[in-house]
Amino acid sequence: MAASFISIEGGEGVGKSTSIEYIRQKLETCSIECLVTREPGGTPMAEDIRQLLLQHRDEVVDPYTELLLMFASRRQHVQNVIRPALAAGKWVICDRFTDASFAYQGFGRGLDKGFISSLKHYVHGDLNPNMTVLFDLDITIGMARAGKRANFDRIETETMSFFERVRQGYLTQAEEEPERYRIVDASQPIADVEHQLDHFLAPLLVASGD
Ligand code: TMP
Repeated sequence: MAASFISIEGGEGVGKSTSIEYIRQKLETCSIECLVTREPGGTPMAEDIRQLLLQHRDEVVDPYTELLLMFASRRQHVQNVIRPALAAGKWVICDRFTDASFAYQGFGRGLDKGFISSLKHYVHGDLNPNMTVLFDLDITIGMARAGKRANFDRIETETMSFFERVRQGYLTQAEEEPERYRIVDASQPIADVEHQLDHFLAPLLVASGD
């Protein structure tokens, strides 16, 4: 069976990085070649766009400019990294993908979801994650965790009501596509999160012939 494309989603401070490393190690144990990457970013040019997006600036950033930059970096990433890796039989674990644009720019900023769907269609057409793991967490806990990590970037300085809309936006998408989405309660102890991840990965590992 073809290599799997897994996206990892969630709000700020939900613990995606730790879990991505857990998945990477698990696949390595199963001798599955995998590529861990992220959005916005994942190629040198897309990482430059990430800097543009996340740095603080004095001028107002128009929300559609933000959306278009997300998709510009995504196109570069999909064409130069994700598609070639999958074609070479590697699994791809991506820290955020298009669902983040729906959650943050669509639900969070209130941009037209029909327009985001069109961008999705033109930017990556038939390419979609086989599985999306959503780390769900109360936003006050998430923001407290994110605050401990480092200085807030431009998007992280948004209001709590923005992050609540983002959270609800993810849960709405998960409800709409239950066959693709797996939800992790990110408030659980790490061992329980890992147990859930094992459970989610098992069918994909079986399908890959492992
Ligand atoms: P990170 O915190 O997971 O590294 O992601 C960077 C930020 O970019 C995070 O605040 C979420 C935001 N983001 C969007 O707003 N839209 C998108 O499409 C993506 C991929 C990320």
